[in-house]
Amino acid sequence: MKKVLIIEKIHESGIELLKARKDFTYEVVEKLDINFLKKKIKDCDAITLKLSKLNKELIEAAPKLKIISRFGVGYNNVDLVSAKKKSITLAITAGVLDASVAEHVFFMMLSISRGVNKYDKFVRDGNFSERYNLDLTKELWKQKILIAGFGRVGKNLIKKCKGFEMNVFVYDPYVNEKIINKFGGKNILNFSEAIKDMDYVSLHMPFTKETENMINLKILSSMKKNSIMINTSRGEIINESDLNTALNKNMILGAGLDVFAKEPPDLNNPLLKNKKVFLSPHSATFTEQCTSRMAETTVQNIIDFFDGKLDKSMIVKL
Ligand SMILES: NC(=O)c1ccc[n+]([C@@H]2O[C@H](COP(=O)([O-])OP(=O)(O)OC[C@H]3O[C@@H](n4cnc5c(N)ncnc54)[C@H](O)[C@@H]3O)[C@@H](O)[C@H]2O)c1
Repeated sequence: MKKVLIIEKIHESGIELLKARKDFTYEVVEKLDINFLKKKIKDCDAITLKLSKLNKELIEAAPKLKIISRFGVGYNNVDLVSAKKKSITLAITAGVLDASVAEHVFFMMLSISRGVNKYDKFVRDGNFSERYNLDLTKELWKQKILIAGFGRVGKNLIKKCKGFEMNVFVYDPYVNEKIINKFGGKNILNFSEAIKDMDYVSLHMPFTKETENMINLKILSSMKKNSIMINTSRGEIINESDLNTALNKNMILGAGLDVFAKEPPDLNNPLLKNKKVFLSPHSATFTEQCTSRMAETTVQNIIDFFDGKLDKSMIVKL
């Protein structure tokens, strides 16, 4: 009998897969206190993990642990060195959330470009007939977008951009130009030069030493004044204080942020008060359909692992 510890509740459709198997038991825990988790993880063969931290102390407290199954594709919250040392498999829900994140990028681009907050309030406040005095909004048609990071989400996003007839540029030094061209994108070699000419920039790379603070004041000050920055990847890629300055000094028009360097962000983070920022609480995948797909894949990855048929695309090389 294999025991699965579900750290933080997942959609019921994932739990159903475990219920259907006689050779698995499971327990859902919501409390994230380290001492409580250390006790719970002791006899587990597998765990599912959302965004809570799985540090060295916890991994070392789990002598039977064979697989960590992330609900998502990022894994900065896992101590990879300890996982590797103990030959634990790390699985992700690759391929089931890209469309949802790409849709969220469009939700943000359109909301900012079409002034959704402003317009909605305008009508509710009884100012309908003043509409000719409002600032004009922006359309996406024929606009230039730079997709930075051309992995699973970037590749899904480009299809949607093409549907809106946008001009798509791609920056990803690790992806072959032929692949970018096949998807209808123009390959960019020099990020800091190309960004100067973009109307929209959408970030889709992992948080690494190389991408940390990649969007800083120098970059932001070189961008077009009516450009819009969207980040659904990892908060640390943008220097938040620099972004706030750039918005206040009208260096760019607006920003859409689903992710933050610290989550949840401190209430005194100036970006939370900045009207030029459109915010969401790391919820790009929080659709009914996507959370259910992710829960099923998170659990299926564990079942497949023990059945000896876990798909390679789900495994992170440690
Ligand atoms: N907001 C959310 O809920 C949410 C959901 C899914 C993914 N994400 C995040 O979105 C990002 C993309 O996810 P994905 O599944 O497409 O990842 P992925 O691994 O499939 O793709 C990442 C791409 O970034 C590229 N890259 C790496 N370093 C780069 C650099 N310095 N410059 C440009 N490109 C670089 C890689 O070559 C790769 O093609 C990740 O940070 C992930 O954690 C967030």
